[in-house]
Amino acid sequence: MSELSRIGVAIDTGLLERFDRLIAGHGYTNRSEAFRDMIREELVEQSWESPDSQVVGTVTLVYDHHARLLGEKLTGIQHEYHRSVLSTLHVHLDHDLCLEVIVIRGRAGGVRSLADALISTKGVKHGRLTLTTSGAEIK
Ligand code: NI
Repeated sequence: MSELSRIGVAIDTGLLERFDRLIAGHGYTNRSEAFRDMIREELVEQSWESPDSQVVGTVTLVYDHHARLLGEKLTGIQHEYHRSVLSTLHVHLDHDLCLEVIVIRGRAGGVRSLADALISTKGVKHGRLTLTTSGAEIK
């Protein structure tokens, strides 16, 4: 286990009250864990800024499978980036719409290009890239 450091933080009382309400709403029972998670969040987000950093994440797409050749186009894009695509989950939401979740890993720059290519494909109703970390560098 890593060494712990204790710090004191001076903070405006009103701001602290708002912070406590915020973290209680997210289910935190103590401030320390909330502070740690916020710091990790910022560090992980910062790591995505370098195009060469290694990231993992998901691309979530909603599309109408009746749109002409759309399924083929989305599959073709994933084959172009096959080294970054780990797995795909496909759910038939209703008669027309499909939800696809594509798990990706690789250089941040490449992963963003893949996500942009998928999300900008004509016929995709909504798409979102969610990046996270393999966790190797955070405690
Ligand atoms: Ni489907």
